[in-house]
Amino acid sequence: MRTVGIFDSGVGGLTVVRAVRDRLPGAAIHYLGDTARVPYGSKSPRTVERYSLACLRFLLEREVDLVLVACNTASANALDALSAATPTPVIGAVLPGARAAVAASQTGRIGVLGTLSTVRSRAYESAIAELSPAAAVAGLACPLLVPLAEEGWTDGEIAEQICHRYLVELFAADPDIDTLVLGCTHYPLLADTISRVAADIAGRPIAAVDSASTMADEAAALGPTEGDGRLRCYVTDATRLDELGARFLGSAIDEVELVDL
Ligand code: DGL
Repeated sequence: MRTVGIFDSGVGGLTVVRAVRDRLPGAAIHYLGDTARVPYGSKSPRTVERYSLACLRFLLEREVDLVLVACNTASANALDALSAATPTPVIGAVLPGARAAVAASQTGRIGVLGTLSTVRSRAYESAIAELSPAAAVAGLACPLLVPLAEEGWTDGEIAEQICHRYLVELFAADPDIDTLVLGCTHYPLLADTISRVAADIAGRPIAAVDSASTMADEAAALGPTEGDGRLRCYVTDATRLDELGARFLGSAIDEVELVDL
């Protein structure tokens, strides 16, 4: 395996690129952010599937050996269609996130935070039920967390108030939650604030897990990666790319191409 294709609705999936680069430093990565059509999280399953298939086709044209669907919304709504469209292995974000949650939870009471479309799909519920039939899952859509992460307002009063507003609702649905799945590419940037606010509400520590590192582990399990370690990024619109790219990747993006799908 030499080349890994990763796609997301926008730049948030660079959190997955970061994890893959840490785990597989040799991998050549083609990253596609569908920045012209973001957000996917407020769109219908049909539209998310159509957009996701276009992203997949673009990456397959680059002859990638593996596709990672960094976008939770695309993974939750389109993974079956994506996997059926190609013999190339496709790894979504939901199952790795569910695995991380089941491993972290002591009580089997799990909260899932995601976009509206991810929460409505109940994909995390299904994945967690398969891994741990006794687990109980409460899901909550947190649409304001995406723009908050993009603005870089990941701590401080406003971030805490918004997280508090959401998490009070989640813990009212199940006060015994001990683990939260950050089921959206953007939420890992808010992980510290979410964990702190959740622990305040629950009166005990709450684990917070996301899909990125587990996805990278699953990619690594497919075999050794001997590429040139280069990251090539493609976006369908280039607004605020330098600022947002650096925020999610943790370093500047060197190679970016504007493309049409
Ligand atoms: N990438 C999306 C996800 O992980 C969040 C942004 C969007 O709504 O498109 O669900």
